Parts: sequence; C-alpha cells; structure tokens
Amino acid sequence: MACHTPKLLRVLLGGLRVKACPRNYSTGRKLSTNCVRSFSSSARRQDSASSSGSTDENLTVNFINRNGEALTATAKEGESLLEVVIRHHLDIEGFGACEGTLACSTCHLIFDQKHFDQLGSISDEEMDMLDLAFGLTDRSRLGCQVCMTKAIGGLTVRVPGDVADARGEVVEQQSKQ
Ligand code: FES
Repeated sequence: MACHTPKLLRVLLGGLRVKACPRNYSTGRKLSTNCVRSFSSSARRQDSASSSGSTDENLTVNFINRNGEALTATAKEGESLLEVVIRHHLDIEGFGACEGTLACSTCHLIFDQKHFDQLGSISDEEMDMLDLAFGLTDRSRLGCQVCMTKAIGGLTVRVPGDVADARGEVVEQQSKQ
C-alpha cells in the first residue's frame, strides 16, 4: 500500500493487532505490560545490568539507516526501539527528537511484513503522529512505541530517507498567527 494510507483503513488494520504497547514516557499515560521501563529509567537499568554482569541483551535489531548503511544492535526484551538507538548511540540523523513523548514522528520506522504482524496494537496517538511522517507505509510504526519481544528478535527495520519533525510544523504554525 502506498504512502498516506487513509486513516480509517489504518485504524481497521491496527485493530487486528492485539498486543498493547506503551506510548508516552513523560506524561504518565498508560503503559502496557510488554514494555516495562520508562525512557527516563533506561540509563539506570543499563548501568545496573552492566555493573552486575547481566547478559539479558539477547535480542538483535538491524537498522537500515537513511543512507542505506546497516546498523546492528543488541536489545533487551521490553526495550523500545528508540531506547535501543539511544543506548547504543546509533548515528541515525534526527531520530527520536521528542524523546518518546509522541510529539515528533522522527522515530518513524518501516518494518517487514512478518515482523510488523507481530507488533503490539497501535494507539490513536501513534497513528495521529504517523500521519505527519514522511514516507508513510502500511508497515510504518514509531520506534518509541515499539518494544522488543522475543517474537521480533533479529528483525530488520528501515529508517525512511526523509524525516519530518511534527514539532517544527507546530512552531511554524504558531509563528504565522
Ligand atoms: Fe518523537 Fe517517537 S520520538 S514520536
């Protein structure tokens, strides 16, 4: 399906997916049981894991960067793809500008069909933000809303060539008033 899938269709497609995933790291909105840590606590957890020698990073994520470069990182179950990018300092230009607060769509990722079908449900807030993303596909999600599970371990996600920061549009609209 091409870019800019009608919202109603994406709502219907989203309804077919059953697992819930948390959405907002800073406002205290609902978090699902799939994704257990907040954005702000990920660094502490990482530190405690490394200091104890824990090796719970048994999942792998492959990113195809905007320029086609392949980036591979380890991930922990329950960790969002945004957290993976940040923790490994992956050089993906403009990625995660709002730090997972569902305000930018810069964490837009495109999945293969097999892994997309394994993802948790999509919230209305995520769909609204995806509508503002460049290069939207019917396998698009926001990386800050997708959490690692064993089922999607080893997946490859593509970072779109273009990025849109919804916050920029808001600022622009306000400055025109
Ligand atoms: Fe901004 Fe995901 S990081 S919406």
